[in-house]
Amino acid sequence: MAFTFFFRDEQILALAADNLVPFTIGRSNIRILNAGCAMGMETYTFAILLAEKMGKFALRNVKIHAIDIDNENVDFGKTVREGIYHKDHLQRIPPQLFNKYFSPADNNDHFIVSQDLRNLIEFEQYDLLTLKPLRHDYSLVICKNVLLHFNYQQRIDVITMYHNMLLTGGLLVMENTQSMPEEISHLFKRIVDYGQLYEKI
Ligand SMILES: C[S@@+](CC[C@H](N)C(=O)[O-])C[C@H]1O[C@@H](n2cnc3c(N)ncnc32)[C@H](O)[C@@H]1O
Repeated sequence: MAFTFFFRDEQILALAADNLVPFTIGRSNIRILNAGCAMGMETYTFAILLAEKMGKFALRNVKIHAIDIDNENVDFGKTVREGIYHKDHLQRIPPQLFNKYFSPADNNDHFIVSQDLRNLIEFEQYDLLTLKPLRHDYSLVICKNVLLHFNYQQRIDVITMYHNMLLTGGLLVMENTQSMPEEISHLFKRIVDYGQLYEKI
C-alpha cells in the first residue's frame, strides 16, 4: 500500500491553494491534476483546503482529476471515488475540519467525505511514464512523492509533460525534497523561497 496520509505537506498545499485562488478569478472551469494520488488522502486534503479558501459555492467550477498507476493491487479508484476511510486514517485532520467535511459511514469505524467534495473528484488509472498528456487546461498540477520513483531523465520528461498540460501561469507543486532539474528550469518560475511551488512561464 502506498505511503500517504491526510494533511501531509499541508503547508505547501495551503500555499498552492492561496496562489490558485487569484488564478481562478473569471474562469469557469478550473481543472486540477493530482498525479500519484494513492488512496486519495492528498486529493481530499487539497479539496478541503480549497473549500476553506474559496467557499463551497465557488467549488462548483472546480474539478480535481486524481490519477494513479495503481488500481490493480489496491483499488485506489474505488477508495477515491467513495471517499470512505477508516477512523485510524483520519486522526491528523484538524477536528473542526473533520466535523465539517466527514460524517459516519455505515459503521462506527469508517467515515465518509462530504458529497460536495466527492463531486469534485474524478479518478482515472494512468501511468505518468506513458508521457501522454491527459489534458492541456490544468490550472494546477500537484505531484508529491511520486517523481522520486523515477530516474533523472524520466523526471525531466514528466515535468516537461506537466508544463505541456498546464495553462500559462498555471502552478506546479512538488514535495520539498524534490527540485527542478536545471535542464528545464527555464520552463517554470519558482514563486516561493521555501517549498517547491512553481508557475508555468
Ligand atoms: C508515496 S505515494 C505518494 C502519495 C501522495 N502523492 C502523497 O504525497 O502522499 C506515490 C504514488 O505514486 C504512484 N505512482 C508511482 N509511479 C507512478 C506512475 N508511473 N504513474 C502514476 N502514478 C505512479 C504510486 O502508485 C503511489 O500511489
